[in-house]
Amino acid sequence: MTISELQKARLNYQPQLAPALQNGASVKIIEGKPTTSAGDSAKIKTLFPKTYGSPILEMEIETDEQPQNAINVGVILSGGQAPGGHNVIAGLFDGLQSLDENSKLFGFLGGPDGLIEGDFVEITEEFLVPYRNTGGFDIIGSGRTKLEDENQFHKVAEHCEKLNISALVIIGGDDSNTNASLLAEFYAQNGIPIQVIGVPKTIDGDLKNEQIEISFGFDTACKVYSGLIGNIMRDVFSAKKYWHFIRLMGRSASHITLECALQTQPNIAIISEEVAEKRKTLGQIIEEIAEIVKNRAQNGENFGVALIPEGLVEFIPEFKMMIAEMNDLIANEAQEFNNRENLDEKTEFIAQRLKTDSQKLYKSLPNLIQKQLVNDRDPHGNVQVSLIETEKLLIEMVNTKLKSNGFSGKFKTQSHFFGYEGRSVFPSNFDANYTYNLGFTASALICAKQTGYMAAVRNLAKPVLEWQVGGVPIPMMMNIERRHGSEKPVIAKALTELDSVPFVKFVKNREKWANGNYYIYPGPVQYFGPTEVCDRISEMLKCCH
Ligand code: FBP
Repeated sequence: MTISELQKARLNYQPQLAPALQNGASVKIIEGKPTTSAGDSAKIKTLFPKTYGSPILEMEIETDEQPQNAINVGVILSGGQAPGGHNVIAGLFDGLQSLDENSKLFGFLGGPDGLIEGDFVEITEEFLVPYRNTGGFDIIGSGRTKLEDENQFHKVAEHCEKLNISALVIIGGDDSNTNASLLAEFYAQNGIPIQVIGVPKTIDGDLKNEQIEISFGFDTACKVYSGLIGNIMRDVFSAKKYWHFIRLMGRSASHITLECALQTQPNIAIISEEVAEKRKTLGQIIEEIAEIVKNRAQNGENFGVALIPEGLVEFIPEFKMMIAEMNDLIANEAQEFNNRENLDEKTEFIAQRLKTDSQKLYKSLPNLIQKQLVNDRDPHGNVQVSLIETEKLLIEMVNTKLKSNGFSGKFKTQSHFFGYEGRSVFPSNFDANYTYNLGFTASALICAKQTGYMAAVRNLAKPVLEWQVGGVPIPMMMNIERRHGSEKPVIAKALTELDSVPFVKFVKNREKWANGNYYIYPGPVQYFGPTEVCDRISEMLKCCH
């Protein structure tokens, strides 16, 4: 197989280990005080009687090494790709090998489905070599099946028993780690000898809290998007003839957009959480953008760059209400809706039946978006908001607004969506090191016989030699939320906080960036070269230290 020169070079990269792990995964464990939960403590305590209240664990290097037994461990990747997944598995494998070279690691294929069906591959050194420090999740694949009911838990236990697996590592986002916690609790309550450890993954950056500084993948993905945005900015500033509207991934939270804004200083960046907090209407957002376009045009600048978070529409209160009404309508009048032969008829059907306010909003939308709202539905029949081309929606509505205001300047536009470009990239040095340490830490937690914990690496803004590793009990991150009509324990999703240092920094500068040209060109992710270039950390991490 032909591989690129960069891939060859990256295969030889040796991630650094935090000091506590440098003698292997058998570490000294320092227990903190008992913990509570992020919210609804009484309820969480009842739901997690075995794992609630466990202490935060810190690890220190073990100088007095004890012989360890071989352990068989299973691992899955869950949800969307994030740079560094392969290195979590590499760190886990090397950690287990450091305990006993007869330890075995089984990768279950295609995410939770592989665990439920017992579809696996044994991960050996030879098998692992071509994946070290590479992007993607192709080593064992991933999936979005939810591992949440007891039948599934029993099936998983049966497969583990056959392979003599005594611990599972679930690499995933907030939902997957919530389910890892449910699984750990179920096994603990039923005396099933399987430990479960979670690892925080998602480019979205919304799995973070006081204990988890950032999920892996965010750093690399933001560097990729910022590099691309910077390239566009340089083109914009050279040609001076287009406005570029760029939608950025991040299903719900706007962390990616905020991070990219701080890295590149665009003329406009919308932060969904602010839109929701200030209860802005779509009309207001359009007016604000049109005002900036007009002001720049008055200075002879008919160009600019606007960043738009993927999840925006769900944070606009009136839009959210309209989507909820549409979902109900299509569910309640499914037959009538499905009898409509084509998209035009379906669009008309919806337009006629929505309540007054939603009807007004729906009718004000460009036809393309009306159709997308009707057409792109998930298997439950709900609108797939992430597929809505918000960048096109804004372009068209801003254009209409400018015309109706008698705007005489030019508004020529280009639209982009950056998402998949950044999810399976070679991990940055930061993510390559971080994920390797996360995997190694997971093996140390397994060795220490812990369950229901998330592997944690702290002090990430500092060099690896100052990183601290340990474990955080997952119930500590939970509260109760209403999901699909019933109350569920879930890891609280971290949205952008409007008093956080990164957001405040953005607000302080955005007017200046809107009216001037302060573009920053970060360039592509660099893997070799000066440390200030290759080991640059995200603005989000910088601000938190
Ligand atoms: P996770 O939350 O599973 O990490 O996925 C994140 C994400 O990349 C979102 O940013 C995006 O909205 C979504 O996955 C896209 O999902 P899909 O890969 O199914 O298109």
